[in-house]
Amino acid sequence: MTEAILLVGGQGARLRPLTSHTPKPLLPVAGVPFLTHQLARAAAAGVTRVVFATSYRAEMFAAEFGDGSGLGLELDYVVEDEPLGTGGAIRGAAEKLRSKGNEPVLIFNGDILSDLDIAGLREGHRESGADVTLHLTRVPDPRAFGLVSTDADGRILDFLEKPDASGPIGAAQVNAGCYVFTRSVIDRIPPGRAVSVEREVFPELVASGAYLRGVLDGDYWLDLGTPAAFIQGSADLVRGRVDSPALPGPVGDALVLPGAQVDAGAVLSGGTVVGEGARVGVGAVIEGSVVLPGASVGAHADIRRSVLGRFAEVGSGSSLDSVVVGEKARIGADSELPSGIRIGCGVELPPGGVRMSAETAPCTARAFAPPAA
Ligand code: GDD
Ligand code: MG
Repeated sequence: MTEAILLVGGQGARLRPLTSHTPKPLLPVAGVPFLTHQLARAAAAGVTRVVFATSYRAEMFAAEFGDGSGLGLELDYVVEDEPLGTGGAIRGAAEKLRSKGNEPVLIFNGDILSDLDIAGLREGHRESGADVTLHLTRVPDPRAFGLVSTDADGRILDFLEKPDASGPIGAAQVNAGCYVFTRSVIDRIPPGRAVSVEREVFPELVASGAYLRGVLDGDYWLDLGTPAAFIQGSADLVRGRVDSPALPGPVGDALVLPGAQVDAGAVLSGGTVVGEGARVGVGAVIEGSVVLPGASVGAHADIRRSVLGRFAEVGSGSSLDSVVVGEKARIGADSELPSGIRIGCGVELPPGGVRMSAETAPCTARAFAPPAA
């Protein structure tokens, strides 16, 4: 038996408005809820039982995955009425674990797409006798991550969550959001209160002399927490740049889900996904984008690196690059939206050639309060 805890209680603030109705880990990525990819990979690595640590829209996880039999897993759920932070969530979920003593328990952030050798991480942990093993990866800029320094043997010397912007910061080794904890070490996390595993637990374990071990690999790794990364992760799965046992179709330039209607004169490329019941009109060009179920794209629209929420509508002749369109929002025909803008759920932009520049965009953006972080 190998058990895991899946941390899925966050609000997904950086992905609003996509996460206004759906938790980040349940957003469709390459045609299936993102967690399906993570759970299928965990199952393939020998994980048999997973405890979900939920909070935001908690009920939606059990509704999607049930007892886990569809994935060959046994699933259990813990709900935090108030989010307890990553450390508090681990401590709370551990109440439902069956592992004891020095058995290894895997812990996953619920938004990481990677090629990690999960079984290898677990076995290396067992052999090393570490208290905690952390998967590490290198990123060009560590400021959105947990900066980790190690000695030549991989022993972790320091853990600094979200290093601040003062001073130049280049490529660095960071926490990749997958851990193996020795079961008894989880009990060192204080119970019943909010605790950050990154800001409190890891630094305190290091200071106390515990053996925290980092394993760096250069394989594919992406945190899907921002719109650009979400789009990229989906496109990379579709194009086969990262493997998943849960991909619902063959690897290729685009993935069209059953029940979608794509006109023969439309051009899909760059790992675009068109979800169930979505429609794409004649002459439309969609590159590297995610069209969620029920959304529609009018004739000759041009959509690049964007996400269209469920039942969103983009009028004919409109052009979008790096735009997030919320659920049921409607973009009138012949619109041109500046890159980086997000359109709130249900917002309607009038037809008739609305052209927005970066200066005029905020009047639309007002309809959607941008997240703080
Ligand atoms: N149950 C529960 N309760 N889960 C939570 C809570 C909580 O209060 N807060 C966050 N989570 C979950 C999120 O749902 C997500 O799956 C995971 O914990 C990490 O939260 P993020 O919000 O995605 O954190 P991050 O991306 O800013 O930083 C984390 O991941 C980086 C790697 O991508 C940290 O672990 C960094 O150290 C790390 O580098
Ligand atoms: Mg994240």
